[in-house]
Amino acid sequence: MTPPANDLAARQPLGLDGLDAMLHGGLPEGNSVLLQGGPGTGKTILGMQFLREGIARYGAPGLLVTFEEPPHRLYRDARALGWDFEGLVRDRLLLIVYTSPSVFLKELETDGYGRLCREYGLQRVVVDSLTHFESLPDHGDADRVLFQRVLNALRREHLMILMTRELDTREPLAPVTPEEYLADTIIQMHYGLVGERRARLIEVLKHRGSAHSSVQHRFVIAEGGLQILTAGEAGS
Ligand SMILES: Nc1ncnc2c1ncn2[C@@H]1O[C@H](COP(=O)(O)OP(=O)(O)OP(=O)(O)O)[C@@H](O)[C@H]1O
Ligand SMILES: [Mg+2]
Repeated sequence: MTPPANDLAARQPLGLDGLDAMLHGGLPEGNSVLLQGGPGTGKTILGMQFLREGIARYGAPGLLVTFEEPPHRLYRDARALGWDFEGLVRDRLLLIVYTSPSVFLKELETDGYGRLCREYGLQRVVVDSLTHFESLPDHGDADRVLFQRVLNALRREHLMILMTRELDTREPLAPVTPEEYLADTIIQMHYGLVGERRARLIEVLKHRGSAHSSVQHRFVIAEGGLQILTAGEAGS
């Protein structure tokens, strides 16, 4: 299905072809992305691919804020997918910050990241993962406020924002969380059983300012990252 022309205005493609088709061309300007799914569904890899393609296709320097993986492990995982993250860091096109949620928040609100954005000309940011904010002492009722603070601070820098979040999609009655209301675009990933085999599925749950695919698409992870298999119909 071809999206209507007025649906294509001012899009910022993520740089992942099948996924951009599902998003009817990419993000309406300023949309933040919440990427959620269970363990091993491919959240970190999709985040890395978003940064890698941003650099390779659009010359857009990116920042990866990780609470999970030290740089040497990300370099190793990227290498296995055919990406030279060490080289990108060396060339100052990619910045990896391995930190804690409390230090991240403090730096964010004292313009530490603003300075980095200006110094590196950053255009994209990935935060992996939001779930770690739950370890902060004032979580709970403050989740909405906390997430809004992070979003506002990153939006000030006019970055394309992608944040990952752990979500057990096998649990059908999981409560909807503040992040899901506040994020502009929600992408959800599954790794479910189809017969005797597991299959990877990706879907768009929300896309402010735009129509989007309503289909769960199969994908694989291989050299080069995620590949959406039903690419011809991805827009539908
Ligand atoms: N080089 C590779 N080739 C093919 N598949 C790979 C490769 N590297 C990782 N994978 C697949 O991707 C999965 C890990 O993806 P990723 O780390 O992005 O998951 P995640 O959603 O971030 O998980 P978690 O919530 O545990 O951090 C692995 O379990 C494996 O199935
Ligand atoms: Mg991960």
